[in-house]
Amino acid sequence: MEIKTKPQLDTTFKNEVFKGLSSFPKFLSSKYFYDKKGDRLFQDIMAMPSYYLTGCEYQIISSNTKTIGELFRDRKNGLDLIELGAGDGKKTKVLLKYMAENDFNFIYKPIDISENAVEMLSNNLADEMPTLNVDAEAGEYFEVLDRLKGFNKRKKVIMVLGSNIGNLKHPKAIEFLSKLKDTMLSDDLLFMGFDQKKNPQTILNAYNDDTGITAAFNKNILTRINRELAGNFEEAKFNHWEVYDPETGTAKSFLVATEAMEVSIQKLGLTIRFDPWETIHTEISQKYDDKTVRWLAAQAGLRIETSFTDAKGYYKNYVFRKE
Ligand code: AVJ
Repeated sequence: MEIKTKPQLDTTFKNEVFKGLSSFPKFLSSKYFYDKKGDRLFQDIMAMPSYYLTGCEYQIISSNTKTIGELFRDRKNGLDLIELGAGDGKKTKVLLKYMAENDFNFIYKPIDISENAVEMLSNNLADEMPTLNVDAEAGEYFEVLDRLKGFNKRKKVIMVLGSNIGNLKHPKAIEFLSKLKDTMLSDDLLFMGFDQKKNPQTILNAYNDDTGITAAFNKNILTRINRELAGNFEEAKFNHWEVYDPETGTAKSFLVATEAMEVSIQKLGLTIRFDPWETIHTEISQKYDDKTVRWLAAQAGLRIETSFTDAKGYYKNYVFRKE
């Protein structure tokens, strides 16, 4: 007798892929870019001169290390430093080193959606800063928020760098900020990076390099579906496409099917059809200005205490406090 098991939608990944690819128009969440290969591709993106975000934020943190560090300091009880989306920690390490060398009493809790990134960062910090008190964790932003409430015994500083908030549309960003605020007490700070509106060409170039790194990063979501969900996407039959709307400040990434095709995803028990030039929307990378950040903060019950920018004004880090 043949035993057929019905595919179970037993993970968030399965559920979201099923929903996104059964919808019209099709979509997938950019949070699924980050597996081992995706992390490596994102490292390559951060090293591209056209992807100015990383260099700008590094410059901001390096040239204001003392000011930022002293904003974080609590001489009496020390602090808990929590970072969401820590990645490789390259920019954070500048602050961590300052704090370690200037007798801050603190723990560092990096959280990232990529298990691979969390493991690499933990090993790297154990190696480079062995006396640092690190407690890393893998998890999604909205999943780990509740656990942040436990950090209420002394001052807490929450960091979200890299303009990672830009992957959220404004209503979700407000929800995220407001849930962060709910975990904060009046002394706590939120230190966050927001990529700024600028020449639209500069933004387009950041997400549309001609080396194909960003294209490979975008297509990695198909590779991941193939591997983890037994899909048969042919990555070569999709084009990476980027648009930027200078009015809304929204950069959008798509995968565009270059011909009609059928794709099966065994572990979802799903077969989907593509018309020629049909799209899968995979990512938004929102760009901001002060007015928009002030509005988002106000909607979430936060206020801007101060901000830092780079020489070109391409990027800004804001310090928020609970209103
Ligand atoms: C890590 C989400 C901030 O949107 O700029 C880089 C990811 N996507 N190139 C961004 C990304 C394409 C990045 N974030």
